[in-house]
Amino acid sequence: MENYNRPNLNQARKRTKEQPKTIKYHEVKRIVNLGEEKKYIIQTHGCQANEADTEVIRGLLESQKFTVTTEIESADLVIINTCAIRENAENKVFGEIGRLKSYKRLNPNLIIAICGCMPQEEDVVERIMKKHSHVDLVFGTHNLNKLIDYLEYVIREKKQLIEVYSKEGDIVEQLPQVRDNRFKAWVNIMFGCDEFCTYCIVPYTRGKERSRHKRYIIEEVKELLRQGYQEITLLGQNVNSYGLDFENNDYRFSNLLDDLAKLDIPRIKFTTSHPKDFGDDLIEVIAKYPNIMPFIHLPVQSGSDVILKKMNRKYTKADYLDLVKRIYNKIPHVSITTDIIVGFPSETVDDFHETLDLVEKSEFEGAYTFVYSPRKGTPAAMYENDIDKLEAKERLYTLNKLVNEGYLRGNKRFEKQVVKVLVEGYSKTNSKVLSGYTENNKLVNFLGDESLIGKIIDVYIEKAKTWSLDGVVISKE
Ligand code: 5AD
Ligand code: SF4
Repeated sequence: MENYNRPNLNQARKRTKEQPKTIKYHEVKRIVNLGEEKKYIIQTHGCQANEADTEVIRGLLESQKFTVTTEIESADLVIINTCAIRENAENKVFGEIGRLKSYKRLNPNLIIAICGCMPQEEDVVERIMKKHSHVDLVFGTHNLNKLIDYLEYVIREKKQLIEVYSKEGDIVEQLPQVRDNRFKAWVNIMFGCDEFCTYCIVPYTRGKERSRHKRYIIEEVKELLRQGYQEITLLGQNVNSYGLDFENNDYRFSNLLDDLAKLDIPRIKFTTSHPKDFGDDLIEVIAKYPNIMPFIHLPVQSGSDVILKKMNRKYTKADYLDLVKRIYNKIPHVSITTDIIVGFPSETVDDFHETLDLVEKSEFEGAYTFVYSPRKGTPAAMYENDIDKLEAKERLYTLNKLVNEGYLRGNKRFEKQVVKVLVEGYSKTNSKVLSGYTENNKLVNFLGDESLIGKIIDVYIEKAKTWSLDGVVISKE
């Protein structure tokens, strides 16, 4: 094995018409029990795609007899699954990598591995090679399935290994997984992104859009149902373009949702939707099935047509508002949330006011808001970044005030009403209180006993706060 295979952003930018192959993991796996008597710890940054990848990494490791630990002092292997979306996410990871140096000094046999989106960036890999020789293994998002081979190599050869592909590979099915939650599961329906929003690194780090064949998705969901899962969340960078990459592309996301809803899994959610291809077929299917949750995350990014164009979002403010109206008309009880970036290059005060106006008109019940962060290799990184950092922060602050009003308004809707809650466990802030989420994705806290965990129950909402609801249990399912 050549031990330095570095990323190349020019190659990552390319898109071919090639159809990816689907291969099954059990056809290539070997059992070598590499992890016998070894402990691992894994840290996950970023989005649900990374959380789902971590479940596969855990599956691969545990199939080799590695066992999990929460204490770094007793670990033989540390893996950091990284996020590249904004600079502060990367700074955090470099901080962690630096911190690990002292643990490596105490235990020279400790294996340190970095994976996920950051290794797909040229500069990141250069920096690790120059400054962080204590990192043993760097691998990217396209070759996660080869983790065991890589670990075997670094353990045997005691050499640094950098294995990053800049072209997406096959879709690997039937990988082992250790799921983090016993009631809620992530289900990837596609990988990659072909949108190329000008600020975003994801099309480079995750490669071309590739949909999983419906047969494997349905098989996976049926198995989850057999295991008693209550909720699935379908994952893709843009789930609305599911199936567009197939040669015969008349089976779309709305068809997949329709087929999955019929399997009678109690709750189906999905994320993320791009507004540009959110068709009426999709709105209708969400409205039709009570087990498709009335909760839509619909990133808008900006309310200014000038900025939307510069972002390459392919819709206008009016298009977006029209879509939101069509959704509310067909699904009146829906909750819509969004993502917004402020301080994109050349964003004027007027542009920002367009965003505030759109937020008011859309009646969002939540939003993730960000200050624009230039990502090397993306088109926007070449635009002159002329927005003062303090000014951008002030815009974020103003926007957040408005967004928080939306959170409270969204929660108030449910005061003095009975809602269905999937009980997750004891609250993080109070060990006597149970918590869970409603169909509209609202967090509810209430008193109750352990036997309710994992069940969907009726809860009467007494009080709505900005971030959560307080309720009392009125019945079991
Ligand atoms: N700077 C700031 N925010 C970004 N996002 C994506 N790229 C950037 C960037 N360069 C935000 C978008 C996206 C969310 C996942 O992260 O709002 O929807
Ligand atoms: Fe990034 Fe745009 Fe793709 Fe979302 S749709 S992952 S913002 S390029």
